[in-house]
Amino acid sequence: MAKMWAGRTSGVTDSIADDFNSSIRFDCKMYRQDITGSMAHAAMLGAKGIIAKCEADTLIDGLQGILNDLESGALEFDFTCEDIHMFVEQVLTQRLGDVGKKLHTARSRNDQVALDLRMYLRSEIDEITALVKDVIEAIVEQAEKNKSVIMPGYTHLQRAQPILFSHHLMAYAMMLLRDLGRLSDCRKRMNVSPIGCCALAGTTYDTDRRFEAAQLGFDDIAMNSIDGVSDRDFCLELMSAIATLMMHLSRFSEEIILWASWEFKFIELSDAYTTGSSIMPQKKNPDMAELVRGKTGRVYGDLMALLTTLKGLPLAYNKDMQEDKEAVFDAVETVKMCLKVFAPMLATMTARPDNMRKAAQGGFINATDLADYLVKKGLPFRSAYKISGQIVAKCIAEGKVLETLSIPEYREFSDLFEEDLYQEIDLLTCVEKRISEGGTSVASVEAQISYVKERI
Ligand code: ARG
Repeated sequence: MAKMWAGRTSGVTDSIADDFNSSIRFDCKMYRQDITGSMAHAAMLGAKGIIAKCEADTLIDGLQGILNDLESGALEFDFTCEDIHMFVEQVLTQRLGDVGKKLHTARSRNDQVALDLRMYLRSEIDEITALVKDVIEAIVEQAEKNKSVIMPGYTHLQRAQPILFSHHLMAYAMMLLRDLGRLSDCRKRMNVSPIGCCALAGTTYDTDRRFEAAQLGFDDIAMNSIDGVSDRDFCLELMSAIATLMMHLSRFSEEIILWASWEFKFIELSDAYTTGSSIMPQKKNPDMAELVRGKTGRVYGDLMALLTTLKGLPLAYNKDMQEDKEAVFDAVETVKMCLKVFAPMLATMTARPDNMRKAAQGGFINATDLADYLVKKGLPFRSAYKISGQIVAKCIAEGKVLETLSIPEYREFSDLFEEDLYQEIDLLTCVEKRISEGGTSVASVEAQISYVKERI
């Protein structure tokens, strides 16, 4: 069958070329946006007298009928059509006759596809935002449940200082809050309407772009028609925000995988979010967390793919830009799947406070507090640091820990040591004394929890 754009050419293309050229298999996702966008366009054409008011009404009714039929399943996509825009227009014309052919007045698929994609991704951002909030809520719940559980804090994956497990968890809540900020910033810039830019240069018809933009919930219109049809920054910004979000989920996954190992045993994942091995009966594998970590790579790939596609494109629209959709849809679908499994995986995980405590006791993670003790007794920090290091070395050599060394042994290093030392290097004291804002004390964690709660 000849194409709708047959005219200059016969419109009869090779079937392999057709398949190669067509995008309906993935852009059919945007059918709702395409149809509502067209309804606003018809309304504008009618309001401005570009087509008769009754024709506009007929088009709107026809479009509504197509929407209803697609949603009910009465109408199916025709995958031999080039794209969703052609499909809708073709069905409309089949159903309404000649008036259907008036819909595309003062419009091009170039501004139409840019419109559909912005509308589609705008609502995806709202969904992703809600899913991120679910994860933050799961984090906050775990932090509240395990508020005063002590664990070793790490730097270089070496035991560093005692911290609260809740404090560690809340670090991820802060990251995800920033992700929410990025998503909302991106949504603001995305919410600008390109419709009416037409092919690239605007139109000779007396259109009302702001009328259409307002009908479709946009805050503003693209102020340069060439930019309006060739801008895909909104896809890149969204993919970049998603890539950062995935990076956060991936770091968290990495820790969950470590914590769930026999070596750490800081947490136990629910059976519902682990798998077994087909050969090793003892295994309980953290597959969900591993997959989230793994899928982060493909999302980075999506971002890189579109950045690369766009980098050499002259203005304005080029068919290369059809490649935007698979990349951005993949990033969106992937992050949504990850968030959907992450929230319940977190919510159902059980902390193992005894194991965390045991690990915290073994690694001299109160050595800083030992030094601080001497500083409070009048020694300069560098000297106190050196003495504490020597004491740690003695403990390691003799298989002892700071808590079991006697005062006479301590006094071999400095006569500032007294009985009150043991209280000072107790892990709970170490944590509780870190009262600086944002530190690991219970009071600080409570402040963080209310800070986060206020923002979601
Ligand atoms: N399917 C196309 C895309 O996704 C729609 C725009 C086509 N425009 C054109 N001038 N051929 O980019």
